[in-house]
Amino acid sequence: MNPYFDNCTAWGDFHLLSFSISADFQILFFNGILLMYSLTLLGNLVIICLISLASQLHIPMYYFLCNLSVQDIVYVSAILPKFLAITITRDSRIAFPGCITQMFFFTFCVGTEFLLLTSMAYDRYVAICVPLHYTIIMSKEMCILLALASWLVGFLTALIHSLLVSFASFCSSQDINHFYCDLKTVIRLASSETSHINTLLFVVCVVLGLFPFLLILTSYIFIISTIIKIRSSSGRGKVFSSCSSHLTVVILFYGTPLSSYMIPGSEHSQEQDKMLSLLYTAVVPFLNPLVYSLRNQEVLTAMKNINEKYFMFQREATNTKNH
Ligand SMILES: *[C@@H]1O[C@H](CO)[C@@H](O)[C@H](O)[C@H]1NC(C)=O
Repeated sequence: MNPYFDNCTAWGDFHLLSFSISADFQILFFNGILLMYSLTLLGNLVIICLISLASQLHIPMYYFLCNLSVQDIVYVSAILPKFLAITITRDSRIAFPGCITQMFFFTFCVGTEFLLLTSMAYDRYVAICVPLHYTIIMSKEMCILLALASWLVGFLTALIHSLLVSFASFCSSQDINHFYCDLKTVIRLASSETSHINTLLFVVCVVLGLFPFLLILTSYIFIISTIIKIRSSSGRGKVFSSCSSHLTVVILFYGTPLSSYMIPGSEHSQEQDKMLSLLYTAVVPFLNPLVYSLRNQEVLTAMKNINEKYFMFQREATNTKNH
């Protein structure tokens, strides 16, 4: 059981098999992922700067968005750079500690994002369904508590899982048929007893994934039914369109990992599993800033204000220089 004292090369290298793509597509694939990665970093950095600079965005919803953007940057940076390196160099090695580190950050970010998205849905629910009590319920303390709890729970979950996996031993196969150290795929390779990790993983998926997912769906049902009752038809269309884009992201982000983690012996092959993972590791962090912020009138106005302020400042600076 102990990795230090058995014959298994527990601290040897793993190989990430990634996707089996022909050399022709390799460059195209690399560029696609690189573009996605850069746009994700850019989009999320813009959101973080904008929310920090614009005082009219200093309300709970945007604080949560800022948290989500920080989390998205960590998330893609834990997975995509290594994936890009493997794609371009075809050197698939990853050291065991590196693998555990990647697993830690992946679990940390997914757990945190699950809870942050839940907090955001709760915030919207309170704002739309019980608007009179909004400032009392979503106080500064409550927001900080929700954000802090999301990060802390994500961190602890990740810590426990990566510790458990680092104590497992790996003898037979060192080939990971994935493009990052996916928790489930790595556990399958262990030669020691892993049923306790699988049980824990299932419980965590239910508590941090399935339960919040159902809560979010319920809150959106309440939100939509409230809107139908009160809003004018023009306002209704706008809220519906933002609700439906939020729901798309939520369904993608909860649905894809949960379906591959929770459905036992699910029908999809490992190849399909990898394609699904690509959705929640590359596509969702890229969509988040677009869906939650850049389609939002308040954010666009803030962006315009900052732009104007900046140019005014520049003009004043040149004027004083000239006089
Ligand atoms: C995260 O959210 C909390 C609570 O709203 C806020 O106080 C904090 O500034 C946010 N942190 C970041 C980095 O966005």
